[in-house]
Amino acid sequence: MKVIVTGSLGNISKPLAKQLIAAGHQVTIISSDKNKTADIEALGAKAAIGSLADTGFLTATFTGADALYAMVPPNFGAGNLRQYMGDTGKSYAEAIQKAGVKKVVALSSIGAHLNDGTGPIKGIHDVEGILSGIDNVAIRFIRAPFFYVNLFNDIPLIKHQGILGANYPADARLVMVHPTDIAAAIAEEIEADFTGKSVRYIVSDQTTTTQLATALGTAIGKPELPWIEFTDEQTLNGMLQAGLPPEMTKNFVEMGTAIRSGVIWEDYDLHRPATSGKVKLHDFAKEFAEKYNA
Ligand SMILES: NC(=O)c1ccc[n+]([C@@H]2O[C@H](COP(=O)([O-])OP(=O)(O)OC[C@H]3O[C@@H](n4cnc5c(N)ncnc54)[C@H](OP(=O)(O)O)[C@@H]3O)[C@@H](O)[C@H]2O)c1
Repeated sequence: MKVIVTGSLGNISKPLAKQLIAAGHQVTIISSDKNKTADIEALGAKAAIGSLADTGFLTATFTGADALYAMVPPNFGAGNLRQYMGDTGKSYAEAIQKAGVKKVVALSSIGAHLNDGTGPIKGIHDVEGILSGIDNVAIRFIRAPFFYVNLFNDIPLIKHQGILGANYPADARLVMVHPTDIAAAIAEEIEADFTGKSVRYIVSDQTTTTQLATALGTAIGKPELPWIEFTDEQTLNGMLQAGLPPEMTKNFVEMGTAIRSGVIWEDYDLHRPATSGKVKLHDFAKEFAEKYNA
């Protein structure tokens, strides 16, 4: 099959492209950075360099494809994150229709059933809605929870303050996933026959914030690493001081409130998958320790 992979050589897209190429598919990877061309070609894929915001470029790249993996990249510079995500969704929708793509596997998020109160996930909710409005295209939405790899961003907090934390409490529930488990699920869906619009959750492990801190702390030689609950205001100010733009900060704090209340997991609990991904928290803890000690 001819498969288009968006998301460049990112957390999900690189292992996904490798898996698809190994299975004999012709893969084109979209990147906005021409300097990635050689690395993309080294995988055995074709590079298509351009922006997801450029509908003409997307239409030309999608034309002739049998399947598309569609994701909305993070955008720390967006003045209005929800609008940026919706605009990217509209660009996808127009290009998918013009190019005549019939099968799409779209990255979504746990919590995307909610229209509000979830920070960046509100934008993914909108993208699901926009893509669901396209007729005659089969779309599987892959709803992923919290990526383990987000925790690499907390390495400075652990190194400088000896804590891990956010605006949700010790013993708060966390559902987590490794990008390689997401990639495996997407590859499976790209090869599957499906029709209409549907949702699949992919999860690697379930834990609590305290268990998370203990697992990561043990792996880096700090088994007493505590999980500290910050107020929303402390979280906001901490992220601003760390240099995050106000729009992202506001969204991350709001997402934390949805984890704190538990509403983010509601739909997942009604539609839990029968199987889970391979990478458990103790596996990721080793990966985390390598990064921490590098
Ligand atoms: N983090 C979470 O916990 C979580 C949970 C659920 C869902 N998600 C979803 O997962 C996404 C991140 O997936 P990921 O980690 O696999 O991605 P990633 O590693 O952040 O990679 C995304 C890549 O997309 C490329 N890109 C950025 N802007 C572009 C543009 N305008 N046009 C074309 N390419 C562009 C960039 O590569 P180049 O520089 O090469 O262009 C970037 O490295 C999030 O944005 C969110 O939608 C995340």
